Amino acid sequence: MFERLDSLPSDPILGLSQACQQDGNLNKVDLGVGVYKDEQGNTPVLTSVIEAQRLVQERELTKAYQGPVGNRVFNQQIQSLIFGATSALQERLTTLQTPGGCGALWLGAKLIANARGAATIWVSSPTWANHIPLMQGAGLTIKEYPYYDASTQKVDVDAMMAVLAQVPAGDLVLLHGCCHNPCGTDLTLDDWQAVAELAQKNGFTPFVDLAYQGFGDGLEEDVQGLRLLANAVPEMLVASSCSKNFGLYRERTGALTVLTNSAPSADIVFSHLQNASRAVYSMPPAHGASIVETILTDSALRQQWQGEVADMRERIKSLRESLSVALAPYGDFGFIPQQRGMFSFLGLSIEQVTRLKQQYSVYMVDSSRINLAGINQANLPYLAESIARVL
Ligand code: LMR
Repeated sequence: MFERLDSLPSDPILGLSQACQQDGNLNKVDLGVGVYKDEQGNTPVLTSVIEAQRLVQERELTKAYQGPVGNRVFNQQIQSLIFGATSALQERLTTLQTPGGCGALWLGAKLIANARGAATIWVSSPTWANHIPLMQGAGLTIKEYPYYDASTQKVDVDAMMAVLAQVPAGDLVLLHGCCHNPCGTDLTLDDWQAVAELAQKNGFTPFVDLAYQGFGDGLEEDVQGLRLLANAVPEMLVASSCSKNFGLYRERTGALTVLTNSAPSADIVFSHLQNASRAVYSMPPAHGASIVETILTDSALRQQWQGEVADMRERIKSLRESLSVALAPYGDFGFIPQQRGMFSFLGLSIEQVTRLKQQYSVYMVDSSRINLAGINQANLPYLAESIARVL
C-alpha cells in the first residue's frame, strides 16, 4: 500500500528549525519558526507558568477524562480575555478548548463544512502557510483576497475592500486578529470598521485567527478590531492560541469561540463542536489549559503573566528599532518598526534568502519572513552584514 507514496518536502516553516540545528556554523542565526526568544536566544518557560504548573501539580487529584469540551473554566476565561469579562455578547458565544490554535482553526472549518456542506473561505494574500492545508483538509475551498503590498510594505486596503465587496453571502473571510503572520502589517480600527460594515451588508462570515494576542500593542488593544466586528455581525468564529502569549507551544493549548445569532443557537453549535472533537481527537490535552486556568483565575499570577507578555512585546518592538537602524546604511527599512508582532518581510528574493542560508547560516522562510525575536545584540551586527552582502 505505501509503495504508492512519494516522500514529501519538509514543512516550509518547521523544517527550518531542523536545518538550523544541524548547521555547525557558530554564527548561525535562526529567524525561522515563530517562537519567542530572549536576549540569550532561549525560549524560557514563563515564571508565571512555572508557578502555575507547581500549583496544578499540587492540586491535581485525577487524570480522568475531561471530555471533548476540555476545561470549562479555561473556556470561560479565554472567552473573557478575547471579548471582555462583561461582554453583552456572552449568551451568543460558545467556547471549546482545542489542541492549540491549529486545532481551533480545524474545528471551526469542520463546523462550517458540516453546517454548510460546501463552503469557501477567503484568505489574505499572503497568509500563514498552514492556513491553506488546514482549511482544505477540513473540507473548505480556498480563495484569496489581496492584502500586503510589497512595494509600500502596507496593507492595500482599496484592493482588499474591492475583492471583499465581491464575496458572496455565506462565504467565510479569514482575518488575522493582530500581528499578521507573515507580514506584520495589521488593519487599522477604521479598516476593521469598514470590513464589519461590508460583512453586515453582504452577509459573509468573519473567521478570525488570534494567535498573538498581547504581542502587538497590548492584550486589550489587540482585540479591539475583532470586538468591533463581533458587535456588527450575527455570526463569527475566533481561533485563539496560548502558544505565544503563555509560551505553551508544545502543550497545544487553544480554543475555538463561535459567535452565534442567538443563545439557543450557541447551545446547538456547542453540541456540534463536541461531536466534531470527539470524532477526531476525542478531547484536548489537559495540562496547558490547567496552567492557563490557574494563571487567569489568580490575580497575582495574572498580573505577573501580563507583565511577562508586556516584556516579550517590548523586547520585540525594540528589536524592530535596532534592526531598522542596523540596516539603514543599505536601504530603507523604516517600515520594520511600524509593523507589529513577531514577523516582517525583508523584501528579499528567494535567491537572496537561499544565499543567506547557504553562505551565512542565516535562516528565514523563503518569502523572507523573519522572526524578529531571533535577533539579539550579539547576532545583530553579523545579521546586518550578511543581509547587506546579499542585497
Ligand atoms: C510560525 O508561523 O512560525 C508559527 O506559527 C509556528 C508554526 O506552526 O508555523
